[in-house]
Amino acid sequence: MNILSISVTTDTLELLWSDDVISNYPFIWLRDIDPSGFHPQTKERIFDLTSVDFDIQATSVRLTERGVELQWPAQPQGSVFSQQLLFDYRQHCALQDPAKIDYQSWQGDFNPPRHCAEQVQQPAAMATMLRDLKRYGLVIITDLVGDRSGEQLGDLIGFKRESNFGVMFEVINKPEPNNLAYTSVSLPLHTDLPNQELPPGYQFLHCIANEAQGGESILADGYAIAEDLRNQNTEQFNLLSSRSMPFRFHDNNVDIRFRHKIIGLDEEQQINSFIFNAHLAAGPDFVAGNGLEYFSAYRELISRVRRPQYPLQLKLQAGEMMIFDNRRVLHGRKSFDPSSGKRHLRGYYIDRGEVDSRLRIIARELQSE
Ligand code: OGA
Ligand code: ZN
Repeated sequence: MNILSISVTTDTLELLWSDDVISNYPFIWLRDIDPSGFHPQTKERIFDLTSVDFDIQATSVRLTERGVELQWPAQPQGSVFSQQLLFDYRQHCALQDPAKIDYQSWQGDFNPPRHCAEQVQQPAAMATMLRDLKRYGLVIITDLVGDRSGEQLGDLIGFKRESNFGVMFEVINKPEPNNLAYTSVSLPLHTDLPNQELPPGYQFLHCIANEAQGGESILADGYAIAEDLRNQNTEQFNLLSSRSMPFRFHDNNVDIRFRHKIIGLDEEQQINSFIFNAHLAAGPDFVAGNGLEYFSAYRELISRVRRPQYPLQLKLQAGEMMIFDNRRVLHGRKSFDPSSGKRHLRGYYIDRGEVDSRLRIIARELQSE
């Protein structure tokens, strides 16, 4: 794409591109992203935004072979913006982002995408898998060989998120459990660690053995549940997306508490998180803080989550690993009979920012090939 012509409005630089698109860049914004204002090695900004007037205007603008060259008042050094840089920021000055993927909600008839462990070692296949993960919030990795291969796949994505359960956690029936997951009882649909300041982004559960009777996994899309609630009962939706719920986990070593809105919204009012865990919801300050109307909406949400159209059920096989967005997809399991065979899942978490970073790095690598 080429710049055909440049012009100046009161406070912006206006460009006409060869595809007939006109884009506008405020001068103060250009001054702030001027490449010379960044450290050449660390790429971090050294320019101080308060050092220039907010209504700064260029004293001259020229289209040259180097790109667009601007001169600023009282500053001998001009700025050069390459055509590529201006193109990258063309849409309302926002940098295009390979990790920006819209979600698609699903119900119980959804078939989660399956990706072979060996293939996702390749960056392009890894990117395809991560895009599916961002779109649907759920994928299954197949053909994992060995007990550590699930853990190693995470190393190809990013840093694991440690919690009070460790970096890696073993989901097995333990003699002295500090978590319902470490028993053989059924687990109702939930998201993990809502009691943390930031509940982990993605959860990885690698199935080492699942020979016991029972132990099927249940998964439901919290975004689908929230969308339906928004359409069917705005009042309850507004309560659950504006007031926060206290959560608490405590054992012999920790007492970790935090409050979250069950339904999280971004600045455009799009749903961007669903944090739900009935067994860690803390009671006492709840009615006082939120009122009975909130309690009632919350109680109805519990029933809504259980509606038969939402959950899908699958039984993980040894060598499979499910990955899901822990601030979107609810997970649970059926009870199992530990005397009938072994059941062992190895789990860990990786935050959303790590997954996004990997997608951007892969896109960068594939582009430069
Ligand atoms: C968990 C969990 C589900 C299972 O470890 O957080 O919910 O299938 N486990 O055991
Ligand atoms: Zn869980």
